[in-house]
This record gives sequence, C-alpha cells and structure tokens, in this order.
Amino acid sequence: VRNIRASSIFFARLFVSLWLRQEDTFTRCEKYSSKLDISRSFIRIFAVYSKEFILESYMKEITHTCHYKLYAYEELCETDRQLVDAAKQATQGSYAPYSEFHVGAAALLADGAIVSGSNQENAAYPSGLCAERTTLFYANAAHPNQAIKALAVAAYTNGKFTNIPVPPCGACRQVMLEVEQRYHQPIRILLYGTEGIYVVEGGIGELLPLTFDASFLK
Ligand code: THU
Repeated sequence: VRNIRASSIFFARLFVSLWLRQEDTFTRCEKYSSKLDISRSFIRIFAVYSKEFILESYMKEITHTCHYKLYAYEELCETDRQLVDAAKQATQGSYAPYSEFHVGAAALLADGAIVSGSNQENAAYPSGLCAERTTLFYANAAHPNQAIKALAVAAYTNGKFTNIPVPPCGACRQVMLEVEQRYHQPIRILLYGTEGIYVVEGGIGELLPLTFDASFLK
C-alpha cells in the first residue's frame, strides 16, 4: 500500500511540475498571443488545485494521547500509599521562600528503598531546583545503579495540599525520560491531590511526547 501511495504521489508531482513548466512557457508567450490567455488561466487554476491536493495528501494529523488513572487515596495499594505519604512528608523539607509553593517527591527504587526530596529555591531563581529532579538526582547519587520504579509528587501551599495534582514541569519530565532510558523501565508516576491522585502507568512517554534523547546525538 505504501508503494502504491508513494508512486501515485510521485506521478502526481511529475504531472503538476510538467503543467507548471508549461505554464511558464505560456507566460513567456503571453505578449505574442492573446489567444493563449484562456489556456494560461486554465493551467494556472489547475496547477494551484493540484498543488493543494498534493500538499493535502502529504499532510497527516498525528495525535498523542495521554493515559492516566484517577484514584482516591483509599483505593491505592499499600506501596503506592507509602510513596505518596513520603512525598507529602517531603514537602516539609522544601525551601521555597520565593514561591511559597512547597513540593515534595518520593522515589521507589528497585531494591524497595524510598528516597525523597523537595524543591530548593534560590534568590537567583533559575539556580533553584524542583522536587522531582532533586529527588531523582539524589536517588541515583546515593543509590547508584538502582532503577527508579515509581515517583510520587505532592505540593503544599497556602496552608494545605493542592486539591488538584501538580504535574511535573518540562525539565523534570526530560530528566525522568533519561532515568527511564538508563534503566530500561518506565517510571510509574503518582501525582497527589486532595481530591484524587493521578496515576500514570505508561511511563513518561505519556506526559512527554516527541522526546529529545541521546539517540539524536549519535
Ligand atoms: N516545582 C516543583 O518542585 N515541581 C513541580 O512539578 C512544579 C514546580 C517548584 C519549583 C519552584 O520552586 C516552585 O515549585 C514554584 O514553581
């Protein structure tokens, strides 16, 4: 099917380019003959429509979908609950005097250990770091070569945990991607909100389509 499609597109393009060339010839002849005017307009209209048709036949709409589940805290299994609790607890270690947005994260390692971290801000704003990256970097620094099986995130602001889960920023998603690729396994992502917990089971690809990774550097 692909070959038929490719060759029909090839011939259609060839056809149009011939017409376009002919159009050029007519344009050049224009000053010598007014009789050619009708043919010239016809060719021009035809060429425009054919071109549009071909462009359309090249255009494809690609949709990325994002799958996640919404759980009530009570519905989570024991391990997930522990991880979420650790992320909530970690918000207390957050240093966020500028945003007052205290984020905690907890990572479940392959050996069953739970490592947590929080956002650490700085007066030079970009020097600060999100909870997710603090946690992932610390996890691999303190426990080298331990895959990350799951990561939970919770955020505390204005005296309470957010009702809606806080999704990781783009930079943290990029770091999660590299961790997944490093250990050849998806990270289960749990995003805590008081009204429900989003659970992303398919790995970071669900949250970060069209990824840039090391394969482009080869
Ligand atoms: N922050 C995180 O730690 N994780 C997120 O997923 C979103 C944002 C932090 C960065 C900054 O310290 C504060 O929240 C406000 O953006």
